[in-house]
Amino acid sequence: MKILGIETSCDETAAAVVEDGVRILSNQIASQVEIHARYGRIVPEVASRQHILAIIPILKQAMAEAKTAWDDLDGIAITIGPGLAGSLLVGVNMAKAMALAHGLPITGVNHLEGHIYANWLSGRDIAFPVVCLIVSGGHSDLVSMTGHGEYVALGRTRDDAAGEAFDKAARILSLGYPGGPAIERTAKNGTASIRLPRAWLKGSSDFSFSGVKTALLHLVARGEVSTMDNAGDGLPTRADAAASFQEAVIDVLVTKTVAIAKKQGVKQVLLVGGVASNELLRQRLVESSPIPILVPEPILCTDNAAMIAACGYYRFQAGRIDGLDLDAIPSLKLA
Ligand code: KG4
Ligand code: ZN
Repeated sequence: MKILGIETSCDETAAAVVEDGVRILSNQIASQVEIHARYGRIVPEVASRQHILAIIPILKQAMAEAKTAWDDLDGIAITIGPGLAGSLLVGVNMAKAMALAHGLPITGVNHLEGHIYANWLSGRDIAFPVVCLIVSGGHSDLVSMTGHGEYVALGRTRDDAAGEAFDKAARILSLGYPGGPAIERTAKNGTASIRLPRAWLKGSSDFSFSGVKTALLHLVARGEVSTMDNAGDGLPTRADAAASFQEAVIDVLVTKTVAIAKKQGVKQVLLVGGVASNELLRQRLVESSPIPILVPEPILCTDNAAMIAACGYYRFQAGRIDGLDLDAIPSLKLA
């Protein structure tokens, strides 16, 4: 079964063809990063216009790379939310147009569920129930997945998501956009010498990252962190600040994930979402967890359409076909 996946929820226009939910035949991504970097954040209006420009070339490239004709496809999977309304609508309308033109069934996919299904693309055996840590620009969620398409919420962020915190910290340290990769790169030249606060929220599997971000902001505002990259003034460097921030966020993510996974008695933990491409997070979680950690390769952690196609395959298998009245749902929930 060959599924075309389309993803336009944020600032990546992506299309991919996946066979039987596991084999990637093509995976095309047009990133808007350079455009949004000028503003230091994603500008929604700019994002939707860029999707309009990119979507047809990306679709053509995905079909060509997969050496697949429209007649050879079995269905279309499209991200319907959560995400930016204007961005989602470009993908949803394109998917509906293609479904209508080629007589293909369509299924609407939750973007977060797509992130989870990136793990199936790595061809691993996954035994339910599993605990998933979803860490992206808009979400830090812990969910229990009890079967295909079945989720129970265990914890979520009460304020900033992990990726959002990385992006804001990078802005505070003038490291540019997107912040996650910039913090990770910069942190490699520093040591985690500054003790930043951790919000443990005892007894809960929720997260909170606004406190650590504010603590960093105050350090910089009080001049207690050097704005220079070498420690000429005797203060901790910007790289030390980046390393300390990264350490604080990862410490909380890892500790709380291992605790809830043990409590749930699961056999596997899935680490997914854009922040899951962070090398230190991957390494720390593997080292700290007695339960095996499954994490997709970095390119499948950040936004892509192969994960949407993989999820779509399992939805089609379960008979979850949507009508052409399918709509974007910007605040769609997973559980
Ligand atoms: O899943 P994703 O690509 O898009 C959303 O669904 O939001 O995640 C994007 C987020 C951004 O906040 C970005 O800064 C963060 O993931 N990110 C990282 C890294 N790569 C991307 N955070 C930490 N370390 C990274 N290497
Ligand atoms: Zn995402």
